[in-house]
Amino acid sequence: MKIAILPGDGIGPEVTREAVAVLECLALPGLTLFEGDVGGIAYKRHGHPLPDETLDMARAADAILFGAVGDPTCDALERHLRPEQAILGLRKHLGLFANLRPARVFAGLEHLSPLRADIAASLDMLIVRELTGDVYFGAKGRRVSETGEHEGWDSMSYCDSEVRRIAHVAFRAAAAGGHLLTSVDKANVLETSQLWRDVVIEVAADYPAVELDHMYVDNAAMQVVSHPDRFGVVLTGNLFGDILSDLASAAVGSIGLLPSASLGERETAFGTFGLYEPIHGSAPDIAGQGKANPMATILSAAMMLRHSFGRDAEAGRIENAVSAALADGVLGGDLGGSHGTAAIGEAVRARL
Ligand code: NAI
Ligand code: MG
Repeated sequence: MKIAILPGDGIGPEVTREAVAVLECLALPGLTLFEGDVGGIAYKRHGHPLPDETLDMARAADAILFGAVGDPTCDALERHLRPEQAILGLRKHLGLFANLRPARVFAGLEHLSPLRADIAASLDMLIVRELTGDVYFGAKGRRVSETGEHEGWDSMSYCDSEVRRIAHVAFRAAAAGGHLLTSVDKANVLETSQLWRDVVIEVAADYPAVELDHMYVDNAAMQVVSHPDRFGVVLTGNLFGDILSDLASAAVGSIGLLPSASLGERETAFGTFGLYEPIHGSAPDIAGQGKANPMATILSAAMMLRHSFGRDAEAGRIENAVSAALADGVLGGDLGGSHGTAAIGEAVRARL
């Protein structure tokens, strides 16, 4: 079980340290950790935010635990040398096409959600977003018409193999969890969505235990904030997933608790190759002060055990330890509490 640890910048090293200690606490046999530089720190040491050594280490691993990148002292650099290019480069080189973002309101933290507490309490969904296709990657350009009108244009497209592979990821997650899958599209107006729907229906035949439902994206946005209990796993394309996943995260109301996974196509000996990271950034405003909440990174490590190493039981134990710590009032500054990074990590390990 080879894990590449890429702590990155700002609070990245602080939060990854606690997540690594949680993994070590499980004492899994055969676990080997490698550490590499990414982001601003990599630029400073090697002249590039994603050095070849780091990329090779990532390729050789079964999974990557990523902290965060972003360094205000690198703001003046050319775009391709900025720290944030590291994550884009990893996605591209490693073919990470499936982004998984769970959004869940932990018991006792309903008041942090901008939603009414009784609605927030039922928010527990997993958004599975396609990450490498859609309108972001289609042909695009500018043109001037004969009448002198300036026009910008982008093209949305998906081919069936792209939809099929992301659909399998979502159906597998639904089959392992709550068995409810909602595919979100705009099939009433978009041809891309019509094909999306056809392929999803075809894939559904392989998963008879999963209940499949289709929803238009505009309705889905309303339902996320009015009836989040209607969702289990949500399957959607890159554009709709970008918006819905941020909406769901904001509905949780606490940035330090949200993990994510980006899965590739490669199967490892134990599961699927993937990169795991908190959804927050490098938080330069609190970096180096021991204030960052490491729970999002610890929960990302749990996702790693589940998806890349087939260790569902251990993943569940970590998630339960985090829930228990939260229920006992172990709250970081982002949650209105006063626990620091190391104290939160210790509290989670004690409950583990
Ligand atoms: P951010 O997520 O780093 O911070 C937003 C706010 O949330 C800040 O006030 C910060 O202190 C707080 N915060 C974030 N994580 C926290 C944690 N674990 N515990 C407690 N408080 C936390 O977003 P921001 O400020 O927009 O970006 C900072 C840098 O991070 C930028 O350079 C940005 O490009 C980069 N970034 C990197 C990401 C990545 O590595 N995947 C994702 C998002 C931003
Ligand atoms: Mg976004």
